[in-house]
Amino acid sequence: MTKKSIIIDTDPGIDDAVALAIALFSDELDVRLITTVNGNVNLEKVTYNTLRLLQFFDKEVPVAKGAEKPLIAEPVDASNVHGETGMDGYIFEEPDNSLLLDEHAVNAMYKEIMNSNEKITLVPIGPLTNIALLLKLYPEVKENINEIVLMGGSTGRGNVSVMAEFNIYADPEAAKIVFLSGLPIVMAGLDVGLKALVYPEDSELLKDMNDTGNMIYHLFKKYRGGSFNKGLKMYDSCAIAYLLKPDLFETVDTFVDIELNGELTKGTTVVDLKGYLNQESNAKVCLDINGAEFKKWFMESIKKCK
Ligand code: BDR
Ligand code: CA
Repeated sequence: MTKKSIIIDTDPGIDDAVALAIALFSDELDVRLITTVNGNVNLEKVTYNTLRLLQFFDKEVPVAKGAEKPLIAEPVDASNVHGETGMDGYIFEEPDNSLLLDEHAVNAMYKEIMNSNEKITLVPIGPLTNIALLLKLYPEVKENINEIVLMGGSTGRGNVSVMAEFNIYADPEAAKIVFLSGLPIVMAGLDVGLKALVYPEDSELLKDMNDTGNMIYHLFKKYRGGSFNKGLKMYDSCAIAYLLKPDLFETVDTFVDIELNGELTKGTTVVDLKGYLNQESNAKVCLDINGAEFKKWFMESIKKCK
């Protein structure tokens, strides 16, 4: 089986940590590079968290540190959801940092994409700053990118303001560059993230499943992405699920733009389901997910981890 070659751009983040676990232990994915971006917590913390996770998983994937700030917007933070460290709840060993590259994430992505024999799929699960910089600085990479499968946006309401989802709100200008880049985009946003739930009985099973399950269990105890009792939202795992099991999703090809100037709606993904804007479709938007099947897949995926 040929594996799909991917680069994950991330801001761990508890649900990012889970998505990384699933991707790194999948037989169908080849994670070539992990790049970090300011998002849930600051760049230093998310990079440190990525290195801590790789050490925990015993996986050797190069890591490159990316943007410290959004392109234009003021930085926002989600430590109210993920804790001060971004991954509160579990005591990890100190990482040895040998996987951290000297170069900036954008340059590391550029090299990885241009030197690859197969087209690369980009999987951003944080704000889109690094990806926007990559596409603007090195537009030639588009030739060797298969598609961008991202977690972000919503066809309806937001989770950080009335209408905006966190990853898009955190850097709307970057999101606009990415959505209007001409590359094929898959948007796995809140429509599916809100239904990709892990319940207390699942968390209990994870606790004794294996080392990863146990680590995740402890992070979940501190995660405020939903409620431990009513279901925790596995937003970022939806992007990985789409790569591995697209049949879980109902999608529509449509036009998506980003609101930059709205007085109350900055960072909204304007998903033109009815064609008011008369534009060609630029994204495959996930509208729905089979929650029960997702959960089955999720538990099986964690079982494959260390
Ligand atoms: C997104 O925001 C972050 O807090 C999560 O990691 C996820 O990527 C959900 O809106
Ligand atoms: Ca994230």
